[in-house]
Order: sequence, then C-alpha cells, then structure tokens
Amino acid sequence: MNYNELLAPSAKTMRPSGIRKFFDLASDMPHCISLGVGEPDFKTPWSVRDAGIRSLEQGRTKYTANAGLKELRAEICRYLERRFDLKYDVPQVLVTVGGSEAIDLAIRALVQPGDEVIIPEPCFVCYEPITQLTGGVPVHIATRAEDEFRLTAEQLKAAITPRTKLVIFPYPNNPTGAVMSVQDLEEIAAVLRDTNIMVLSDEIYSELTYGLDRHVSFASIPGMAERTIVVNGFSKSYAMTGWRLGYAAGPEPIIKVMTKIHQSCIMSAPTTSQYAAITALRQCDDQIEMMRDEYNRRRRYVVKALNQMGLTCFEPRGAFYVFPSIQVSGLSSEEFCERLLREKEVAIIPGDAFGASGEGYARISYAYSVDHLQTAMQRIRAFLQENGWLKD
Ligand SMILES: Cc1ncc(COP(=O)(O)O)c(C=O)c1O
Repeated sequence: MNYNELLAPSAKTMRPSGIRKFFDLASDMPHCISLGVGEPDFKTPWSVRDAGIRSLEQGRTKYTANAGLKELRAEICRYLERRFDLKYDVPQVLVTVGGSEAIDLAIRALVQPGDEVIIPEPCFVCYEPITQLTGGVPVHIATRAEDEFRLTAEQLKAAITPRTKLVIFPYPNNPTGAVMSVQDLEEIAAVLRDTNIMVLSDEIYSELTYGLDRHVSFASIPGMAERTIVVNGFSKSYAMTGWRLGYAAGPEPIIKVMTKIHQSCIMSAPTTSQYAAITALRQCDDQIEMMRDEYNRRRRYVVKALNQMGLTCFEPRGAFYVFPSIQVSGLSSEEFCERLLREKEVAIIPGDAFGASGEGYARISYAYSVDHLQTAMQRIRAFLQENGWLKD
C-alpha cells in the first residue's frame, strides 16, 4: 500500500504539537522535573467525583441527548450568567468532549476553503491545524511583549480582509498568561461591529485570573454575543482534564450546526462526566477559589524567581503559565529548552511551539507544587550560572 499517496494532504502535513516532542524527550529521564504540562495538579473536588460514582451506581451508563443533558445545559446557562453576566438559553449550549471538541466544531461549522481565520499568537496549538484541515487560511497576528501579549485593535484592523470569516480570541492566554481589559475588549468590539466576522472566544481559563479584575467575557460586550461562540469547560477550572468535558455557547443557528457535526462524530459527551459536571457547577465555587488562590501564590513565586535570574517576564494575570524571555542566553527557544533538559533535566516548552512570535520565550507552567517549582527554579538558576548567563 502506498500510504503516502492515500493520506489526505491536509492531514499529512499537519504540524505535530511541539509540546509533545519535549514530553517524549523527558520521558526517558527519571529525575526530570517537568514544568511542561498545562494541567492542574489538584484532584477533581471530591463532591464531583462522588457525583460521577453515584451516577454509575444508579446505572446511568447510556448515551445522553446529543447536545448533552438538559439539566447540565440549564446549569451551564445559570453559571454563565452568575459568573460572567452572559445570557443564554438551553438551545444555545452544546456539551462537548472538552473545550477541544468545541473549538473543532466551531471552526468546522464556519470555515470553508479559502476563508481566512485570524489567529493571535502565541496561542494554544490547535487552532491552526484545525483551520488548515477545513481548507481555511490561518492569518497570524504576532502579539508583543510590550503590549503584554494583548491583541490590539490596530493589529486586528490591519489583518482583516474581505475573506476574513473568523477571529480566534484566546484570552486568558495559553502560553503567555495575558488577559484583556474591558477597554481592550471594547476596542476590539468596535473593529468588529458592523462586519460579518465571527469570533471564537476560548475562555477555558476564565476562572483563573489574578488581581482585582475578574474575567470579562468577550460575548458580554454590547453587540458581541450575536457574533461570538464562547468555548469553556471543566478541565482547568475544576481540575477535570481526564473527564473530557467542555461546552460551546453561542447563536442558536451555529450551535445547531455544530450539534449536527457532533452527532455524527461523537454522539454525546461522556455521560458520567456530565452528571459530575452538574455538581461541579452547583457546589464548587469555593473549590475554584481555593485552587485559584494557590495558583496565585505559585505565580508570584515563579515570576519573582525568574525575573531575579534575568529571565524577564511581564506579570501574567491569567491561566497558569509564565512566558519569560530567554534572550539573555543568545540561544533559540528550542536550543535553550533542549539544553536545559539535557544539562539540568528540567522540561519547559519552547515559545515557538505556540507560533513563530513565541521565539525568544519559553512557557513554564506553575500548576505544580511549590516544592517542585522551587527545585526547578534552583536548577534553572544553576543552568544560567554555569553557562555565564546569570544576571545578578
Ligand atoms: C487555551 C486552551 N483552550 C482549550 C484547551 C482544551 O482543553 P480541554 O479540551 O481539556 O477542555 C486547552 C488545553 O490545554 C487550552 O490551553
């Protein structure tokens, strides 16, 4: 068989995740300290696990409705209103297999071959390959450290063409930790108002913002709900990555088409996870707060430690990542991370894995225990010192 000829070119040429490569290298190193994974180190709150167990004991082991349990979708509507002042009805919500599936469905429901999809970078790794699989054309915007990696209205305006179909709006941002202020959001909204452009607002880190300001959803800006698909989920806020549950909320005609695709390729999101998620939304506000406070403590420690050793980083206000500059080393991001891994057995992710504009930076996740973080910081410091890059 000539598999090379058989495989669809758009699938064959998909760029593999630059994150995975580092995990593969690190997996052969038993003493490796990884700050690579974007996953909470907490266990799912007990009441949520218990609700999952109870649903199994009650024999709730069948498919649910394609769009998800009505009770869960109603609870998601109440949650979005309570936390982010978003007003949705049940038919505007689709329960998916993680935020990942919601992103895939939104792009597939909207993008036709030749449509342009604006992707501010650095960003999470899936938007571009999914766009390319649909025949869409990714249009990158390089956000800048001097703008604290926020998307500016000028940058967005300059990237729009008559072929623009969709803007990916990835805030709070993975990998930079950037968030957008209300004023930033209003400026972006002013560019999009009166256009026919849709927005995919990936708000998976909406519960993880630090400082005085709470997350503001792009869909809550006047006039934006009609053009926005909000993607959110349970992985990050409720430490539920393995339960694989997320959702999309947006205009009903779009959610309807997304549901049709979901029906064909997934059927329905995991039933046990859906029952557990109802409890998460009803009972876990205090657990979210506890985890957020803990991440905040770690965030402050890591930002201070990195800045002190000359790996300068702006203060990230969302998610659980810092994105320090590694330019003192004179190495590329990839060389820096590879040498750090080989010489000190610390795994962090090269910034260019999140788009070309991430070159010169590296992503460090602080979703790890303080002990783990302290050991990693000591090793990074020693790495810089031994190579003559330490600034004191
Ligand atoms: C920005 C962003 N969006 C979406 C996801 C997908 O999360 P999940 O599919 O676990 O809900 C991730 C996971 O790392 C992410 O960082």
